[in-house]
Amino acid sequence: MLNVGGINAGYGRAMVLHDVSLKLKEGETVFIVGRNGAGKTTLLRTICGLMKPIQGTITYQDENILGLAPEKLAQKGFRFVAQDKKVFSDLTVRGNIELAAYAAGEPISKAIEKVTSIYPDIQRFMDSKAGGLSGGQREILLIGRALVGDPRLFLIDEPTEGLAAIVIEDIFRILSRLKEDNVSALIVEQNLSVVSRLADRVFIMKEGKIIREISEKSKMANSAELESYL
Ligand SMILES: Nc1ncnc2c1ncn2[C@@H]1O[C@H](COP(=O)(O)OP(=O)(O)OP(=O)(O)O)[C@@H](O)[C@H]1O
Ligand SMILES: [Mg+2]
Repeated sequence: MLNVGGINAGYGRAMVLHDVSLKLKEGETVFIVGRNGAGKTTLLRTICGLMKPIQGTITYQDENILGLAPEKLAQKGFRFVAQDKKVFSDLTVRGNIELAAYAAGEPISKAIEKVTSIYPDIQRFMDSKAGGLSGGQREILLIGRALVGDPRLFLIDEPTEGLAAIVIEDIFRILSRLKEDNVSALIVEQNLSVVSRLADRVFIMKEGKIIREISEKSKMANSAELESYL
């Protein structure tokens, strides 16, 4: 469904991505793993239209999408959940969901149902300011919001970063749910236990390049084995 070819991208004159190519098939859960500064976020930002590459091709369902604005890509079902876990702090949780519902032209009740379906506990916080949520709750709200409308491709940047082990398991269960529902996902993740339990394939990134693709089940199911590639 998604085909990224020979991407070179960076900030000003500083090149970050060097000849990055990857493919994602419908319904796959694919992870990108790599050390700090490897270019993982830059790659997701480029795919969702927030950055323009200097060179390369990006097609989605065989359509050239390079240069399309993030809003246009959102209409096509792209959902980017950024690394900073930023919500609309001054709005309530419900308000955050309502905004997504308006943007997607979806009834508010349906949007709220989608978010609560992945994490029923969020009901308790519906009328609280989103700024008061914990990091884990914010991430869950952001993933829930991304379900609003007609999502086709999730790009999620380090969903478990900075979270306590017990909350990481909540996020793991939510990501498992997405996978069971056959949602296509490209997820940057440093927690190799999460990766090894969910991945259909793994890309290892280093210094702006994809240095390895792992698709052997035995290698992906073993977080120690994954670690050896980092
Ligand atoms: N806005 C920016 N302006 C200039 N350089 C940037 C900017 N954002 C990132 N960089 C640089 O680009 C390189 C890749 O950054 P990127 O955020 O893509 O890495 P990452 O793999 O996501 O790292 P992390 O694991 O820390 O999130 C780094 O050297 C970083 O310093
Ligand atoms: Mg990053």
